[in-house]
Amino acid sequence: MKKVTVNTLHSMKKDGEKFACLTCYDALFAALFAEAGVEVILVGDSLGMVIQGHDSTLPVTMDDVIYHMQCVQRGSEGSLLIADLPFMSYASETQTLENAARLMRAGAHMVKLEGGAWIAESTSLLAERGIPVCSHMGLTPQSVNRIGGFLVQGRNPEQAESMIEEAKLLEASGASCLLLETVPETLAKTISDTLSIPVIGIGAGCDVDGQIMVLHDVLGISPITPKFVKNFLAESSNGIPGAIAAYVEAVKNGTFPGPEHSYD
Ligand code: KIV
Repeated sequence: MKKVTVNTLHSMKKDGEKFACLTCYDALFAALFAEAGVEVILVGDSLGMVIQGHDSTLPVTMDDVIYHMQCVQRGSEGSLLIADLPFMSYASETQTLENAARLMRAGAHMVKLEGGAWIAESTSLLAERGIPVCSHMGLTPQSVNRIGGFLVQGRNPEQAESMIEEAKLLEASGASCLLLETVPETLAKTISDTLSIPVIGIGAGCDVDGQIMVLHDVLGISPITPKFVKNFLAESSNGIPGAIAAYVEAVKNGTFPGPEHSYD
């Protein structure tokens, strides 16, 4: 696959071309994703739940993400690699810069931070120093205890309005893209239409620029299956490679996510 950069995603948004993203934790899946044309790979802290067997992402450490980033980087060919800054690894400015640098040295091309207005300062510090940032808003799993569960976010008008304002602030602070998790599709569309940076959705409807799913959800082996999950392996006539190819195609031709995978 031709090397995907932050500019590729920006051009795709401008041209109205959807891009496909998946989480990944090892080298062979990373290679398979390149063959299937997955533009963006996320080494997500979801690894705490799908690899390590925890019931949240909170126990994941910097060393865990670095280990999986290094594995993915060895297999990857051309996909843009994003790495999660795990829980409490960006609580201060110094910590944010040091930990983001560790992820970039391990092979990441971009780092992802969960939060709204409160990560604006960190976003500009990183962007000014050459580290692209993906901001993660909506359902932010690292805050599951404050939120009170893995719940849809932005359902009431005040919350929706403040999410729009925070998204604009993060773009102005230098974020290279925004990930929206588990929000009503109309809100995701408004945010995507308002911002010039690419917006990636998971449980955010089809009117955003790219889609992401957790690999284990695509393969139908996660114990928890929220509404936005689709098992692509169930319909594949070519096993796992067929499931990944079907996911990429469905994202690109706009058939996934459908209304049955979205919130309103
Ligand atoms: O950690 C992760 O895999 C994520 C996705 C759910 C988007 O943040």
